[in-house]
Amino acid sequence: MEADPQGESLVNSVRPALNPSKVLSVEMRHIWKRFPGVLANQDIDLELYRGEVHALLGENGAGKSTLMHILSGSYQPDSGYVRIDGEKVHFRSPAQAIAKGIGIVHQHFRLVDVLSAAENIHLGWGDAPWRVTPQILAERTEKYCAEFGLHVDPKAEIWQLSTGEQQRVEILRVLARGAQVLILDEPTSVLTPGEAEELFRVARGLAAKGRSVVFITHKLEEVLAVSDRVTVLRNGRVVSSCMTSGCTKRSLAAMLIGQEFVSRLHREQRAPGKPVLEVSDLHALNNRGLPALKGIHLSIREGEILGIAGVAGNGQSELAEAINGLRPIQQGTIRVDGVDLTHKSPHQFVDSGVGHIPEDRHGMGLVTSLSVADNAILRQYKHAPIAKGMRLDGKESLKFAKKIVEQSAVKVSSLREPVRHLSGGNQQRLLTGRETEVASRLLVAVHPTQGLDIGATEEVRSHLMKHRNQGNALLLISEDLDEVLIMSDRIAVMYGGKIVGEFEAGDVNRTRIGLLMGGANELEEAG
Ligand SMILES: Nc1ncnc2c1ncn2[C@@H]1O[C@H](COP(=O)(O)OP(=O)(O)OP(=O)(O)O)[C@@H](O)[C@H]1O
Ligand SMILES: [Mg+2]
Repeated sequence: MEADPQGESLVNSVRPALNPSKVLSVEMRHIWKRFPGVLANQDIDLELYRGEVHALLGENGAGKSTLMHILSGSYQPDSGYVRIDGEKVHFRSPAQAIAKGIGIVHQHFRLVDVLSAAENIHLGWGDAPWRVTPQILAERTEKYCAEFGLHVDPKAEIWQLSTGEQQRVEILRVLARGAQVLILDEPTSVLTPGEAEELFRVARGLAAKGRSVVFITHKLEEVLAVSDRVTVLRNGRVVSSCMTSGCTKRSLAAMLIGQEFVSRLHREQRAPGKPVLEVSDLHALNNRGLPALKGIHLSIREGEILGIAGVAGNGQSELAEAINGLRPIQQGTIRVDGVDLTHKSPHQFVDSGVGHIPEDRHGMGLVTSLSVADNAILRQYKHAPIAKGMRLDGKESLKFAKKIVEQSAVKVSSLREPVRHLSGGNQQRLLTGRETEVASRLLVAVHPTQGLDIGATEEVRSHLMKHRNQGNALLLISEDLDEVLIMSDRIAVMYGGKIVGEFEAGDVNRTRIGLLMGGANELEEAG
C-alpha cells in the first residue's frame, strides 16, 4: 500500500469539501513517547484541519490513545511538539488543554452518577454567576443541546440514562467548555448501531461548523462513513495518512495489518451432545427494581454456541449475570448438567464449570491495579495446585499465568506488569484465556470482541470456536449482529426481557433478526 503523507493530493470527490481553506488547527510533530518496555509513539506527525473528521485507526496497542492523551494534556511527550492554531503549547494537565480548546471523551465515561445531566455538563463552569439555580443549568443545557443537535433530559440523573445518552452528556460537557477539537476515543464500541449513526451525524455537524473531530475506531465501515481523512498507526508509527474518499475497506485493512485480512474460523461439524445449560421460566429484576427478565426459556447443548441478538437494554446483561449467580432470581430455574444451581453463589457456578466474560472488563472481569499474573490466577487461587493449604504456590501461579498468556497470545513485557498498562486488546485476550480455562462446561461471553482490532477479534473468536469444538457450551451475547451470525449454531433474539424468536443459524437472515430486535413480532410481520 502506498502511503500518501500529504493526503491532500488525493481529490475528495464523495464528500462536499468542508474545509476548502484548509486551516490547520492542530499540528503534532515528531512525537515520541516511551513507557517501560514499550515505545508507544515513535516520531508521529499528525495534522488536524478545521472542519474535518479525522479517523485514527490502528491495532490494539498501536498507540492511538497515547497520542490523544498527549494532545489532550494527560501525558507529556518525551520529545516532539504540538502547535494549536500556529502556537506552540506544552500542556501539563487536561485543564490546560481544554483552555486551548482541546477536549476528549474517553472510552470509560467520567460522569458523576448521582448528579443530573445538566449538573455534569456544568461541572467546572469557569465564569459561573454567583447564584446558579437548577433552572439556569437546565436552560443552558437546552441551549447547548439545540446548538449541537445532541438531546438529553437536563434533569435526568446519570444512572437513569442509557449508555448512548451518557455519552451525549460527556460530549456536551466537553463542547460546553468551548472545545474546538473534539477527540472521541472509541466512541461507538459502547453504542447500538442506531446510536452510532446518530453520533456520525453529530460529528459531521460539528465539522461542518468548523470544528475538528478525531474519531478513533476499529470498525472500517465507520471510518468510511464518518471521516474526511484517516491516519493509520502501526506499532507506534504512522503508516499512512490519506483522504478517506481514496480508501476502501480492503485498502484500510491492508494498511492496518500490513496484509490482506482473511478469516479462518473453523467450525467442526459435530452431532449435538447432552444439554449443558437449561434455563426455565427465568424472571429477574434490573438495577432499578423493574422486571428485566420475563420468563426466559433456553437450553444449550455440548459443542453448541447459542447467540443472543438484541439491542442493549433488553435484558441481555441481566441474563448473563443470572446465569453466573451474580443476579438474584425472582422465579424459574437454572440447571447446569442437570444440577439445580438456582439461587446458588457465583463460586458454585464456577465450581460447576461456568466461566464468564463480562460486559464490563474493568468493573467485573479484571482488577487493573493487579499484575497480569495475579489476574490470570484470580479464578484458581483456591484450588490445587495453585493453592497449597492456606498459601499460594508462587511457582505454580507463575506457571499457570504463563500458560494462559501464551495460549491466548497476550503481549506483555512481564507477568508482573499491572493490567492497566495493557492495551484493550491484550486485556481482552487475557480475560478470554482465563475464563475459557474456568469454563469446562459453559462459557457466557458478553460482547467478547468489543473494542478489539481485526486481528484480536479474529483471535478471540477462534479461541471461542475452539472451545466449542472441544465440546463446551457457549452463550454468546453480542450487539454485533455479524458476530452473532458468524459464530452461532443457533440464534435467539431478545426483546423486552423475552426471547421473541429462535432459529437454527442457517435458517435465518439479517433482516428477519433485525426486525425482531426492533420489536416487530411475528403477527405484525405476517400482516
Ligand atoms: N500508562 C502506561 N504505562 C505503561 N504502558 C502503557 C501506558 N499506556 C499505554 N501503554 C502501552 O503503550 C502501548 C500503546 O497503548 P495505547 O493505549 O496507546 O494503544 P491503543 O492504540 O489505544 O490500543 P487500543 O486499541 O487497544 O485502545 C501499549 O503497548 C500499551 O501497553
Ligand atoms: Mg486506546
